[in-house]
Amino acid sequence: MAMNAPRGTQDILPGTVEDWQYIENTLKDLSHRFNYKEIRTPIFEHTELFQRGVGDSTDIVQKEMYTFEDRGGRSVTLRPEGTASVVRSFVQNKLHGLANQPTKLFYIGPMFRYERPQQGRTRQFVQFGIEALGSEDPAVDAEVLSFAMKAYQELGLSSLKLIVNSLGDQESREAHREALVNHFSPHKEELCSDCQIRLEENPLRVLDCKKDRDHPAMKTAPSILDFLNEYSRTYFEKVKFYLDAMDIDYEVDPNLVRGLDYYNHTAFEIMSEAEGFGAITTLSGGGRYNGLVEDIGGPATPGIGFALSIERLLMALEAEGVELPKQEELDCYIVAIGEKPELEAVKLVDKLRSEGLRVDKDYLHKKMKAQFKAADRLKAKKVLILGDREVENNLVNVKDMATGEQKEVSLENVMAELKKMKEE
Ligand code: HAM
Repeated sequence: MAMNAPRGTQDILPGTVEDWQYIENTLKDLSHRFNYKEIRTPIFEHTELFQRGVGDSTDIVQKEMYTFEDRGGRSVTLRPEGTASVVRSFVQNKLHGLANQPTKLFYIGPMFRYERPQQGRTRQFVQFGIEALGSEDPAVDAEVLSFAMKAYQELGLSSLKLIVNSLGDQESREAHREALVNHFSPHKEELCSDCQIRLEENPLRVLDCKKDRDHPAMKTAPSILDFLNEYSRTYFEKVKFYLDAMDIDYEVDPNLVRGLDYYNHTAFEIMSEAEGFGAITTLSGGGRYNGLVEDIGGPATPGIGFALSIERLLMALEAEGVELPKQEELDCYIVAIGEKPELEAVKLVDKLRSEGLRVDKDYLHKKMKAQFKAADRLKAKKVLILGDREVENNLVNVKDMATGEQKEVSLENVMAELKKMKEE
């Protein structure tokens, strides 16, 4: 029986993996410049962490988690996102006690959600995310938004839209919640069964419903921005003030509701506006989550962050026709014909690699012409040719593949010669 990878997962093969590596390196470099340090947390956690962290009423917790009992009878879950794990680790390792605050962390790794696979939506996807814990300065919100935009811009994307909203603090949210209940209750029977439950448990989630999106009551729903108290309104004003100061374009969308329960104050998403991007246009999202550290058992600590998936980032690059640079060429390929030259080639390849060159040779005992073809396919800049005559005279024939120029170099000097050519 032929075996395929599970639905909603993919293999990333040579030829494509170079794009992933380039993106990962760019994001790590950006993290370094913004002074975010890497954190690596387990791929599975106690199920309760996500129930409490992400929120019981979210689609993620209700429908999408890969949850199973381990052999010890404990319920564990493959992480559907990174924030809850980072916060758990922040509390467990008492990172709040360190001298330098806020604690600024980044992560990159696979996440798992049992969703219906479609373009831009897979069951295993790789998220890159950052979290800043320990400051309630609106300038940190602006820093995170700036980071998110730069992540795309530095990779060459330009058809981007940043959408921001404020979900307010607890007091504002409670006032809004009451208004939502009053607004939707007369229509309760017309809403989907999930929304009927949402209306009781977390009415904000109704605004995020895919099924009831076109219900007339959605368009007239009370806006959170009308319910922000003084502190929340001022906070949002300051975030926007800093974005303006950094020349970051954005749109305010009072209907932006994120799919996770921990958000308050700033919430944002970045959309791709590239033609042909596909049905799901959200590239990344994030926001503030003051209160989450406390919910997970730590001291009251504000936090904010965002995450993007590399899968959707690659889709955006493709839609905008951006080609990432690839370092494909070999420094040299060694062509050897005959027993003694073969042995010399094995030694030479090893030596050149130790000296830092990217080198390969034939392992299929092909004829000279076929070895040259392989060198061509591998984009070798130089081909070193070893035959019996060369070995006898301690020589190697060096061919420049771009110019076709060929010269004999002593085996002793070949290293220096290649290095010189590499520098040129
Ligand atoms: P999220 O909006 O659930 O937020 O996911 C963030 C990003 O992950 C999405 O914008 C999308 O790029 C990607 N993503 C989510 N699900 C899939 C999927 N099935 N296939 C491909 N890509 C996907 C969070 O996860 C929050 N933890 C973000 C955050 C960090 N908030 C504060 N800090």
